[in-house]
Amino acid sequence: MIIDSYNRPHQYLRISLTDNCNLRCFYCMPEEDYEFTPAPQLMTAPEIQAIAKVFVEEGVNKIRLTGGEPLVRKEAPAIIASLASLPAELTITTNATRLHRFADLLQQSGVRSVNISLDTLNENKFEMITRRNQFSVVKDNIALMLDKSFRVKVNMVVMRGINDNEINDFVRWTHHTPVEIRFIEFMPFSGNRWSSNKVFTMGEILDVIGKEFAFEPVQGEKSDTAKKFAVPGHAGNFAVISTMSAHFCGSCNRMRLTADGKLKNCLFSSEETDLLSALREGRDIRPLIHACIATKAEKLGGQLATNFEQVQPESIHNRSMIAIGG
Ligand code: 5AD
Ligand code: SF4
Repeated sequence: MIIDSYNRPHQYLRISLTDNCNLRCFYCMPEEDYEFTPAPQLMTAPEIQAIAKVFVEEGVNKIRLTGGEPLVRKEAPAIIASLASLPAELTITTNATRLHRFADLLQQSGVRSVNISLDTLNENKFEMITRRNQFSVVKDNIALMLDKSFRVKVNMVVMRGINDNEINDFVRWTHHTPVEIRFIEFMPFSGNRWSSNKVFTMGEILDVIGKEFAFEPVQGEKSDTAKKFAVPGHAGNFAVISTMSAHFCGSCNRMRLTADGKLKNCLFSSEETDLLSALREGRDIRPLIHACIATKAEKLGGQLATNFEQVQPESIHNRSMIAIGG
């Protein structure tokens, strides 16, 4: 078992397959010209399988594929198929633009649940946020995944002045559609135009929803990042991920492997442990994994102020979201 110095067992590994993406969401990709990681520096399909196997032997029971956009990685089908053979739950976070090509493979690989990023229900705004014209593909693919009986969670990053006026449109969508909306507080990453006044907090989100809907809290799992709620009579439900206004680090069980094979013990950690180079040199990566998690900070990577209004985005030492993998 991988346990940190605060006694938190780590059984959930998020693996980024690539830092490339076919969308250009401004809050995820840095503003300056971003250079995607050259192919030789990426973990190959067999390397991903080898590293993931070690994690599973060390107690990991859930693996999530992330990006960039994981499904733009050429070897995605081989990677998904090979990870399916490990005794761990396999899930994916995707922008959904390519899901129609992958739905059957995901189903055959035992994937039951997908997280889809969609920050607006307005076609023009979608293009403004992602700088690509793919709204109808995403909407169609959400319908497709529901048709195929996948559990579909929709990640909506709430940004003040950009999409906070759509919160109740998303809740209304859950009336007849069994999607699970996850409202995510806007987080600061390298080059993502974050400022504390753009954070629309959980308190504000629930106030807005309460004006139109009667909702009640739903009991979740201890390690859940999302606080869940239900509107009686709705086919779907919603949750809030309150990283900025009320962090949930106390029960964190997550580790992140970047596409170039570096292990991060927290989304906001400044340090990384190079597992891929060790693997390529034939060294045992187990002690490196344990050492990395042993130095995990108690909360927020040890570098974000608990009061988000005091967070200075310029002073944060981290990658951009597209290079971490969410
Ligand atoms: N703040 C909050 N959520 C973010 N995501 C990407 N960047 C940010 C950010 N700055 C979300 C995406 C994706 C998930 C992996 O993380 O919407 O769904
Ligand atoms: Fe691509 Fe997702 Fe980042 Fe948007 S948020 S640029 S879809 S990886």
